[in-house]
Amino acid sequence: MKIMQTLDNTQWDSEYTPETQQQALSALEAGQLLFFPRLAFELNASEMSFLSPDFVEAKAKNISYNTHTNTIKGAIGTAEQREQIKNMLARFSQQTYLLINRVFPHYQGALQIGRTSFRPVQVSNRKMSYRKDDRLLHVDAFPANPNQGRRILRVFSNINPHGEDRVWRIGEPFESVAARFLPAISRPLPGSNKLLQQLKLTKSLRTEYDHIMLQLHNRMKKDTAYQHQVMQTELRLPPGASWVVQTDSVSHAALSGQHMLEQTFYLPVPAMANRELSPLKILERLTGRALV
Ligand code: SIN
Ligand code: FE
Repeated sequence: MKIMQTLDNTQWDSEYTPETQQQALSALEAGQLLFFPRLAFELNASEMSFLSPDFVEAKAKNISYNTHTNTIKGAIGTAEQREQIKNMLARFSQQTYLLINRVFPHYQGALQIGRTSFRPVQVSNRKMSYRKDDRLLHVDAFPANPNQGRRILRVFSNINPHGEDRVWRIGEPFESVAARFLPAISRPLPGSNKLLQQLKLTKSLRTEYDHIMLQLHNRMKKDTAYQHQVMQTELRLPPGASWVVQTDSVSHAALSGQHMLEQTFYLPVPAMANRELSPLKILERLTGRALV
């Protein structure tokens, strides 16, 4: 399987030909990563000083920004410093939104903006439980934020100032992951999703789709033999590069690297050009029932 498609544009607001847009859309939906080796997110001199884990709250692994409320979480520093960090994240969010709209006009109007994150902590020496350990191959699924079938589309930029690559691995296609782990996944207990919501452990109803995605995420990470044996490809993503990937279907692991920006978008399945490629439709086909 082809892992990525490269686009050589250098500007966040570059215009794309309909042909390039069509190729990018097919590649993304088929599970490829769109790689922009020369699309850099520029920092000004004072923003460079925030490239340090010292501005992240102890225990947090990143600083996050909410475009809807224009607020940040997880940052420490003076009010002025936090304001500058927020402005940097807001600018990244705007530029990625522009990029996605230019590359994927097909998604216009349907795309929902999620969190923006700044990740200044070195990935390779973080200590955490296996479930939170993104150095292990996984597909994304969020315990407290059910997606209810919506796609997760993420834009990443490596902003490391010391020339350090972000090193990723890409695993097997989603359908293979699903076929391998689905047989052992049992159905959620009736009523358990309502209870989770009442207890405020989830922000909306955890559908059976969310249940299965979370199980896939956890079981992939927990299975040490799988992690070693499954087909995987290493990718070195250098500073000054950006990339776009649907992390709910593309099995990925981040092995090392420091200083990255990330923007999450959500996309309802009906907005896709080919819905059959969504994890929702693949899982519904494999289980033989509706999951949302
Ligand atoms: C992940 O999405 O699993 C982590 C990506 C990264 O931090 O490079
Ligand atoms: Fe992930």
